[in-house]
Amino acid sequence: MHRLAAGDAVYTARPRSAFAPVATARHHLLVAAGIGITPMLSHARAAVERGSDASLLYAYRPGAGAHVAEARKLLGPALTECTDRGHFQEQLREKLHNQRIGTHLYACGPAAFMDAVLEQAMELGWPKSRLHSEPFGTPELDQGQPFTAHLARSGVTVEVPADISLLESLEKAGKSVPNMCRKGVCGECVLPVLRGTPHHRDLYLGDTEKAANTTMMCCVSRSLDKDLELDL
Ligand code: FES
Repeated sequence: MHRLAAGDAVYTARPRSAFAPVATARHHLLVAAGIGITPMLSHARAAVERGSDASLLYAYRPGAGAHVAEARKLLGPALTECTDRGHFQEQLREKLHNQRIGTHLYACGPAAFMDAVLEQAMELGWPKSRLHSEPFGTPELDQGQPFTAHLARSGVTVEVPADISLLESLEKAGKSVPNMCRKGVCGECVLPVLRGTPHHRDLYLGDTEKAANTTMMCCVSRSLDKDLELDL
């Protein structure tokens, strides 16, 4: 952006969401804390536009709610506002207990808040496939160990130094890999793994996918083995 001058032509694409409503959900249960309401407003607007069923449980400190007026307008009685922890816990438990089959849960807020909401849902038997969350930020990652990536299709070998990501190393080697967030969140930079064990550090793949070790997010994930073979 800072290198552009007035009149330059640039290629742009529409924004893509890594936290979009699931089209097949029978109900969208939105749970937000503080500024975590931001993506939920988009969910609420989408629900109104598409005529789908959504409700929002919104926790905020007294006087510190964001976009409350719009949320009230969009959702009416389907919005539950909580300004104290006890009330929120009570409402959350009640809503997690009493959802019809086919409901998807979406959580956004501070990491500890989201972990608590998702853990509670899992304890109550919600399948992971129905749980979605949008983190504010990503954890700081250490620089990792060096390893060698072997690109099976092109026959190229790429050394990945300790403090450089696999994605950057591939780019330096002239390989173009689609990417967007470069933080392990969006899923865009997924690469198929043919040999070796990836060190998964992303927030995109589920536990089952990580355990299968057949794909990895090359922007943040590395290798537990000295050598990793990729289908690239
Ligand atoms: S670029 Fe988004 S997960 Fe890697």
